[in-house]
This record gives sequence, structure tokens and C-alpha cells, in this order.
Amino acid sequence: MEKTKIALITGCTGQDGSYLAEFLLKKGYEVHGIRRRSSIAKLDRLSRIHYGPHAERNKFFLHYGDITDSASITQITKRVKPDEVYNLAAQSHVRVSFDTPEYTANTDALGPLRVLEAIRTLGFVRKTKFYQASTSEMFGNPLESPQHENTPFFPRSPYGIAKLYAHLITANYREAYNMFACSGILFNHESPRRGESFVTRKITQAAIRIVRRKQDKLYLGNLYAKRDWGYAKEYVEAMWLMLQQKKPKDYVIATGENHTVKEFAELAFRVLDIDIEWQGQGISEKGINKKNGKIIVEIDPYYFRPTEVENLVGNASMAKKELGWAPKTKFQKLVNLIMAEEVKNKDL
Ligand code: NAP
Ligand code: GDD
Repeated sequence: MEKTKIALITGCTGQDGSYLAEFLLKKGYEVHGIRRRSSIAKLDRLSRIHYGPHAERNKFFLHYGDITDSASITQITKRVKPDEVYNLAAQSHVRVSFDTPEYTANTDALGPLRVLEAIRTLGFVRKTKFYQASTSEMFGNPLESPQHENTPFFPRSPYGIAKLYAHLITANYREAYNMFACSGILFNHESPRRGESFVTRKITQAAIRIVRRKQDKLYLGNLYAKRDWGYAKEYVEAMWLMLQQKKPKDYVIATGENHTVKEFAELAFRVLDIDIEWQGQGISEKGINKKNGKIIVEIDPYYFRPTEVENLVGNASMAKKELGWAPKTKFQKLVNLIMAEEVKNKDL
């Protein structure tokens, strides 16, 4: 009988961590996740598996730890003896990284280094494969379009810069210690589990509240930023595929098409039978509900970033060719899928 594989996921309570844990459990893995202590338990995204059938619970374990705390990371790695580590823990909000640049660097740059050092110093280099959650934010103001694995990096935020350190240190451990360590350069991916302060969920939740008369307006920043938005549930499979290859290598994961924040808002409201008419320009631009003439979208400069990433779109052809991975859910389907879940949420 084949030995059960053991996976350790940092950032297990997050959007991707929760989908990845479910995916790996289905594949027969024993899954260990790291959770941070907080005043209220944030296990909503893990409810299916944490409180699920007993058999599954025996294969899913949570450990208290923090990516800024080397001792906890090393102790958990030592105890779990993972075959695969997925480092997803991060301060993942680009806007917030301008408010907390030092903390973001500690978490997003030094965090992965702590995990790599734990694997190395415990003598697990031959046993444990390492995945790093890299990001299209590293391309920042991209020098070419679409972006691929060899596009030069030009990050524009403390978040992007911290993630670039993590990307490069992962490559360094691969080369210096012959470690199976690689990074997925993932473009934006969303889902009904997406954090509520990212623009997609902010829009979909506001649209519902506006229709239910619990909110008057949606305040947004840059309406014209373009992103390559895919479906998170599909992206976690690509992470796993990268660790199943013969050789470690970095891959871009994207849909290959991009859309503006404004388009996203239009589609989300359209699901609720609301068409938006836009009037004005710059910070005076407003979105008006065609049916009743009410202003439902306004600009709040608070949401502008000191340096913005205007236009990202990825070329995932290497992943298609070598991993056999391709996105199934594109823009319209993604918006519909998230809205279908929001509509069911009676708390909104
Ligand atoms: P997310 O929902 O914000 O999840 C982040 C996870 O990291 C959460 O589980 C969070 O725990 C944990 N975390 C944060 N600080 C930590 C710390 N100091 N110690 C331990 N855990 C910590 O992010 P996501 O969307 O799932 O993204 C997963 C990873 O992929 C992140 O590294 C992100 O930067 C990267 N990424 C995301 C995208 C995207 O579009 N989603 C694209 C490219 C790369 P709490 O639940 O306790 O907050
Ligand atoms: N969050 C937010 N809130 N963004 C807004 C708003 C708003 O009210 N209004 C406009 N935007 C614009 C942002 O300026 C940005 O250009 C775009 O919408 C997307 O913002 P986010 O949804 O916050 O995502 P992000 O692209 O900055 O970062 C996400 O994707 C990265 C991959 O490229 C995060 O998931 C990162 O962790 C990830 O690495």
C-alpha cells in the first residue's frame, strides 16, 4: 500500500488555504494547517473539513503558529514531517501594505525564509517539497504584456517587493541546496471565500446590500485598473501540480484575459437586474442606477494607492504545456458564481 502523503499549509484559514486543504484531503493526503491565535476563531472557510465527517477530521489537523515566529514554524515542521509544504501565509492586501510595510516585509518576505530554513536545518531537504505563493504584483508596472515567467519584475508596493524577496530566496534555496522549491506566480483569483476588502467581494457584497436597502452607495478607488481574474478553486490545483513534477520550476497561472474594476461592477449589478449609467470623470465619476436615477457608485480617493498597478494580464501557456493546467472559469462565469453565493447570504 502506498504511504499517505503529508502536507503542511501555512495560511490554511485563508481563501486559497481552505480550497487547497479540501483538494488535498480529496487526494488522500493527511493535511496539517497553521492557524494564528485571534480573539475570535476564524475557521469559517474550513467549516466543511474542520467540523466535517469524523474520518476526514482524523486526516485534518490545525496547529497554532505564526509565520513571524521561527520557533513555532520549526517546531510544527519537526512534528509534522511534511512531504509537501505550501507557504500561503501572508499579509495579502496591497493597499494595507502601504500602512504596515515593516509587518508586511516580516510576514511576506521573512516568513517564507523561516519555512525554508526550518526545512533545511531539520535535515528535510531531500524529503520535503516547498511551494511559495508568488504573485503577479511582482510585475507591477509590467515591461511587457501579457506577462510570463521571464518578464522582468518591477513591483510597486511594499507587498510586491516583499513577495519578490520571497520569490528570489525560494529560487536561491533551490539552487544552493538542491531543494525541491518552487513558486507559482498567480494572477488575481477570487471566489465566494475571497476576503471582503478585496475589490471583487467588496463589490458583490455591496451590490446585494444596496438591493436590500442596507447600504446606499459603493465607494471605490481606481475604476480603470485591469486585472486578470480567475477562480481560486481551480488555481490551488496548479499549486499541487507544480509539486508533482520531476523538477522544481516556477509557473505563471492566469486566465489570459483582463477586465477593469468598472466592468466587474457592471456585471455584478447586472446579475441583480441593475444597469449602471456612468456620469462625470476622475474623482467626480459616479455610477447611477438607470431604473431609479440613484447614485450607487462613487469614488473615494482613500482607496487610491500611492503607487498603483494599472494593468496585469498573464500568459499561462507554460503551465498548460507542462502541467496540463488550464483555467475553466473566465470573467463572466466567475462574477456569476460569486454572486450566486452572495444572494444566498441572509446576513448581508
Ligand atoms: P488570504 O485569504 O488573505 O489568506 C492569508 C492567510 O495567511 C490567512 O490564513 C491568514 O491567517 C494567514 N496569515 C497572515 N498573516 C499570518 C501570520 N503572521 N502567520 C500565520 N498566518 C498568517 O490570502 P489568499 O487570497 O488565500 O492568498 C494566499 C496566498 O497567495 C497569499 O500569500 C497571497 O499573498 C498569495 N496570492 C494571492 C493571490 C490572490 O489573488 N488571491 C494572487 C497571488 C498570490 P488569518 O486567517 O488568521 O488572517
Ligand atoms: N481593494 C480595493 N478596494 N481595490 C480597489 C478598490 C477598492 O475599493 N477600488 C479600486 N480598486 C482597485 C485597486 O486599486 C486594484 O487596482 C484593483 O482594484 C484590485 O485590487 P484588490 O482586489 O485589492 O487586489 P490586488 O490586485 O491589489 O491584489 C490581489 O491580487 C494580487 C495578485 O495580483 C491580492 O490578492 C494580492 O494578495 C495578490 O498578490
